[in-house]
Amino acid sequence: MTGPLVLGIETSCDETGAGLVRGHELLADSVASSVAEHARFGGVVPEVASRAHLEAMVATVDRALATAGVKLAEVDGIAVTAGPGLAGALLVGVCAAKAYALALDKPLYAVNHLAAHIAVDQLEHGPLPRPAAALLVSGGHSSLLLVRDVAGEVLPVGATIDDAAGEAYDKVARLLGMPFPGGPPVDAAARGGDGSAIAFPRGKYRDDTFDFSFSGLKTAVARWVETRRAVGLPVPVAGVAASFQEAVADVLTRKAVNACRAHGVMNLIIGGGVAANSRLRALATERCEAAGIALRVPRPGLCTDNGAMVAALGAELMARGVTPSPLDVAADSALPVTEVVAGLS
Ligand code: KG4
Ligand code: ZN
Repeated sequence: MTGPLVLGIETSCDETGAGLVRGHELLADSVASSVAEHARFGGVVPEVASRAHLEAMVATVDRALATAGVKLAEVDGIAVTAGPGLAGALLVGVCAAKAYALALDKPLYAVNHLAAHIAVDQLEHGPLPRPAAALLVSGGHSSLLLVRDVAGEVLPVGATIDDAAGEAYDKVARLLGMPFPGGPPVDAAARGGDGSAIAFPRGKYRDDTFDFSFSGLKTAVARWVETRRAVGLPVPVAGVAASFQEAVADVLTRKAVNACRAHGVMNLIIGGGVAANSRLRALATERCEAAGIALRVPRPGLCTDNGAMVAALGAELMARGVTPSPLDVAADSALPVTEVVAGLS
């Protein structure tokens, strides 16, 4: 076993995550989710998420330590998500990480959530290829990044100008009477439908940016469903789900492959909760193969928010001798992606 042993803490949204990583090896990944508490609201309620993080934090860390069979005193460093994310939720994790770092007298790495989504792939597929492009798609973010070095040089290439991809899934699911979060039920329903049944719009499809737009698609699905209901016709749920899903997967993979081409990059990493989507995975595989791009997608459990991804980035930073964050580092709900480690400037 080589490399530093790092405890990673994640609280940017509704998952309280504690992960333990040694070098590139995943030792434990403990997650407590408050998703059930948000379900009746159809989206994450920040105050509810913050309270749930407070209640779950210590038990989640203890569970990770027990799973890994290591003692807190053996940990070489603490990593925590500093942003982007929900301000109050981030604060809980950052305060907990500071307390652990201070009590153990170990370095603290307050890291960028998006860089952590990329670094987690090292736990499954080994050292990251450099350079790489990354497509990060979740309920909170939809970004295309150029990753020259996950430990220090991550550049924004494109992002959503309105809804995140996962948010569009959640809204369409609600419209179709499916539970929150909407990604898994829409994905399941789509398997029984024809993705070319309804020609839903693909936002920003032909422009030369690498930005996304999903709000027009969401509105088009709503109008289509409402029109059917208004004239008393049944809604073909599988066809709507599959056609919506096809539009999302089509635009995401098209822009990701175009971004790789434009930047001369032959490696693509996909992460975030929406990376669990079956059609996105299949279409990305197909299009990357055709373009000669090597595709890496972590298994679904590592794509959604977790502590292991934060620990994976922390272990990489420590191994490279990157300067840790000061103990007065602040959580930053809008932390720019170019800031892999917060509080250094
Ligand atoms: O990364 P994540 O766990 O949390 C953040 O939002 O940061 O992503 C959650 C999002 C939700 O919007 C959920 O609907 C979506 O990921 N999701 C999926 C699938 N599984 C989860 N979207 C499409 N297909 C899926 N299979
Ligand atoms: Zn995330």
